[in-house]
Amino acid sequence: MAEPTKSATLTIDGTSYELPIHTPTAGPDVIDIRKLYAQANVFTYDPGFTSTAACDSTITFIDGDKGELLHRGYPIDQLAAKSHYLEVCYLLLYGELPDAKTLEAFEKLVTNHTMIHEQMHNFFRGFRRDAHPMATMVGVVGAMSAFYHDSTDINDEHQREVASIRLIAKMPTIAAMAYKYSIGQPFVYPRNDLDYASNFLHMCFAVPAETYHVNPVLSRAMDRIFTLHADHEQNASTSTVRLASSSGANPFACIAAGIACLWGPAHGGANQAALEMLREIGSVDRIPEYIARAKDKNDPFRLMGFGHRVYKNFDPRATVMKQSADEVLDLLGVHNNPTLQVAKELERIALSDPYFVEKKLYPNVDFYSGIILDAMGFPTAMFTPIFAVARTVGWISQWKEQLADPQLKIGRPRQLYLGDTARDYVDIENR
Ligand code: CMC
Repeated sequence: MAEPTKSATLTIDGTSYELPIHTPTAGPDVIDIRKLYAQANVFTYDPGFTSTAACDSTITFIDGDKGELLHRGYPIDQLAAKSHYLEVCYLLLYGELPDAKTLEAFEKLVTNHTMIHEQMHNFFRGFRRDAHPMATMVGVVGAMSAFYHDSTDINDEHQREVASIRLIAKMPTIAAMAYKYSIGQPFVYPRNDLDYASNFLHMCFAVPAETYHVNPVLSRAMDRIFTLHADHEQNASTSTVRLASSSGANPFACIAAGIACLWGPAHGGANQAALEMLREIGSVDRIPEYIARAKDKNDPFRLMGFGHRVYKNFDPRATVMKQSADEVLDLLGVHNNPTLQVAKELERIALSDPYFVEKKLYPNVDFYSGIILDAMGFPTAMFTPIFAVARTVGWISQWKEQLADPQLKIGRPRQLYLGDTARDYVDIENR
């Protein structure tokens, strides 16, 4: 990090403190408060991290007002149109686009790690059939540290690399197995002659009894969904991975923590919640009722797939996702899909309603992804596991970046304590 050239002055009870200001390559300046407690004996208060930069990073940049998302400087719409998921993985992990030979070697490396330890099959069988696949994934990915001891030493660069590739390669296998287990079908082994997205579709939808041909348009749509979800800077699950990792936890434990965080409906769980909401609305004439509920302060209901902490404009991922939804439904000959009709009309109404306009609530990535995944044949419970597959590379890239930082410290937030001060224990008979 370059030496700060600016500073801010904070005055408390007549004493002033100089706080260095760091200037980023893009985005707002950052006031460095690391020495504030030692110097002034005060903490800062920012429970939802709305104004707090928890780390420095060179991976992903979002300009929420412009609706811009860059990975290593490359706009997401260009990556979605011209690149593919494994190339984006390489870019996120290593910082540059690979040349043809490097990309081929990287794809081969990932492909060679798609199978999971055979004994892990038994582990799956310990879950109830009706377990949510996210519950299964949290457990199975966490358990990888019990199966891959040779890639848990975070101080060994080679082991870190092996863990990274293993996670990116095996996550689709684990998600597909969670799905197969939940519907009572046999696990389908990965096929290394297929590309990443096609292999995932194959593992999810093939059965031993007949031949399954992967439709290239669906495979392209699947790849685009993976690409659009690959990373999103310091979101809740990525911050969870970084916090878990700051204690020195092994990579599989850290990624399991990220999956657990992603599951929530305010984060990755929103894609499942959004489609369920669209189905519940059911028809265009019921939209006003739901818009009214979303605006009612006394009703906890929110329009799922709308709003974002960072984007105060169109989520650029949603724009690509919407095009992709049209393409996939066209291909499948689904022209009068009621869910899509509700989605389009809901979007139109919300974008012109003063409540949503004033609060800058736009459709986010999760608004349209569910429609595509549903059309492909995935049940809603699989939507968030698919997000987890895609986001693994983002978590891993951020985890690697954090471990390479010589200033790494355990993450340990402070608090504004409002509880009782010290008081004497009262014996039970006197309470
Ligand atoms: N429907 C109705 N009102 C909303 C919505 C919504 N979807 N989102 C925010 N608001 C209102 C909210 O009530 C608040 O109003 P007021 O200022 O009057 O209290 C205002 O907008 C600001 O909301 P906030 O909760 O303070 O904003 P936040 O940055 O803490 O939350 C969010 C961001 C994504 C959690 C939220 O917009 C939300 O719950 N959206 C629905 C869930 C969703 O789609 N999540 C996926 C996010 S994108 C994928 C990912 O990152 O995982």
